[in-house]
Amino acid sequence: MEALQTLRLALVFSIFVHLSLLARSSSLSSSELRIVNAERRIDLSSHIVRVYLTLKVENTGTSPASEILLAFPPTQVDHIALVKAAVPVGKKKKKSYLPLDVKSAEVPEGPNGAKYFSILLLNPLSAGGSVTVEVLYMLTHSLEPFPLEISQSESQLVYYHDSAIILSPYHIKQQITFIKTPSTKVESFTNVESTDRAGTEIKYGPYEDRTPYSYSPIIIHFENNNPFAVVEELVREVEISHWGSLQITESYKLVHAGARHKGIFSRVEYQSRPSISGVSSFKLLLARLPPRVHSVYYRDEIGNISSSHLRTDSKKSELEIEPRYPLFGGWKATFIIGYGLPLQDFLFESSDGRRYLNFSFGCPLADTVVDKLTIKVVLPEGSKSPSAVVPFPVEQHLETKYSYLDVVGRTVVVLEKKNVVPDHNSPFQVYYNFNPIFMLAEPLMLASVFFFFFLACVAYLHVDLSIRK
Ligand SMILES: *[C@@H]1O[C@H](CO)[C@@H](O)[C@H](O)[C@H]1NC(C)=O
Ligand SMILES: *[C@@H]1O[C@H](CO)[C@@H](O)[C@H](O)[C@H]1NC(C)=O
Repeated sequence: MEALQTLRLALVFSIFVHLSLLARSSSLSSSELRIVNAERRIDLSSHIVRVYLTLKVENTGTSPASEILLAFPPTQVDHIALVKAAVPVGKKKKKSYLPLDVKSAEVPEGPNGAKYFSILLLNPLSAGGSVTVEVLYMLTHSLEPFPLEISQSESQLVYYHDSAIILSPYHIKQQITFIKTPSTKVESFTNVESTDRAGTEIKYGPYEDRTPYSYSPIIIHFENNNPFAVVEELVREVEISHWGSLQITESYKLVHAGARHKGIFSRVEYQSRPSISGVSSFKLLLARLPPRVHSVYYRDEIGNISSSHLRTDSKKSELEIEPRYPLFGGWKATFIIGYGLPLQDFLFESSDGRRYLNFSFGCPLADTVVDKLTIKVVLPEGSKSPSAVVPFPVEQHLETKYSYLDVVGRTVVVLEKKNVVPDHNSPFQVYYNFNPIFMLAEPLMLASVFFFFFLACVAYLHVDLSIRK
């Protein structure tokens, strides 16, 4: 226990040193913005950390401001999967949100190590004016299991690190933070000025008049038995055939990224006492697929797995799959899901006569983080000048795939993205030019193969005869 305490102290101390280095360097002298009121809600109930920020920002300068900066400590930056911002419009029931563009930003005069995102306002904020923006960002791999290893009968405990005070390049007049834990089982949490805990909520603040880059490290140690389902690598191949279907093949390398399992696994205990045995393990996965899915299969390196259930209605299909064994911390499963979809639900013609595929990005498995996602859109043979439209930055390149009866090969549009969360499941498009004459390519190929075979036979017979003469 004492060792644990020392470790915690050491952790706090190292973060402290780091951030005091940050704080010592300059503050953003040019900033003329000030946060009048900030409320932060950190949701730790799944393994994806969701942070909701409401900021009321005031322009105290003399010229209009077009952007608001968000600052993140260097330890968090690599784990940010997504940052979204919106301006609420209307009141109470009629409230709606206008999304704002967010991009990562370089701030040369910022303290070393801090990283920034810039929120671009729809209309510049005039001098003396104020605006309220709502921000949502998500962090992956930010809950650290401790202890690192647990046995089948133990519950999973994790650490979460953050600051009681919101890190910001601006002066914050008033702020408060609420942290929601998945259960009331909280081993410990850093107690600083104005800390309070009730039920599944820990409150930090309210704090008044904090200068730019104020920071106060906190650590929360709590129970989290939600499935830490991480797909280390997912490759989704979407093949378009103009003969009427879309064929999807998804290969998964799944891992349970929670505390490692220690000791032996007892299936008898697991099955007879499900409420206390292997509480942090998972044995079912839910894949949300489009409606009208058909020819679904699920297999791994051994062969087909029959334990899957498909439920479909007019809006969606749900495929429940069960790996061969329940997954405990550190355990992996590799499998493939395949399915067909009607082409007319996903392939359209744009106003300029190009064809386009409109399909969902991301991973169909619920509540899953994908470390590396690759989407390969295999276009029909003869497609020209493809271009992809994705609502967030991805890496893109082209490949060629040859399959049975292909003459020139098919163009494959490859899209790659790291650190993908369920909120990335939004539609993307791949546009291309297609000349329908190519639809005849395969039948023509077959016909010409027979024709040449026939010619060869004739020639052979002819030659043969002429020699005998
Ligand atoms: C696996 O299932 C698919 C689709 O149901 C079927 O076409 C295939 O023949 C099966 N393979 C084996 C090895 O059973
Ligand atoms: C793509 O499909 C979604 C619904 O799945 C729809 O809301 C969106 O407008 C479509 N986009 C295009 C460019 O057709």
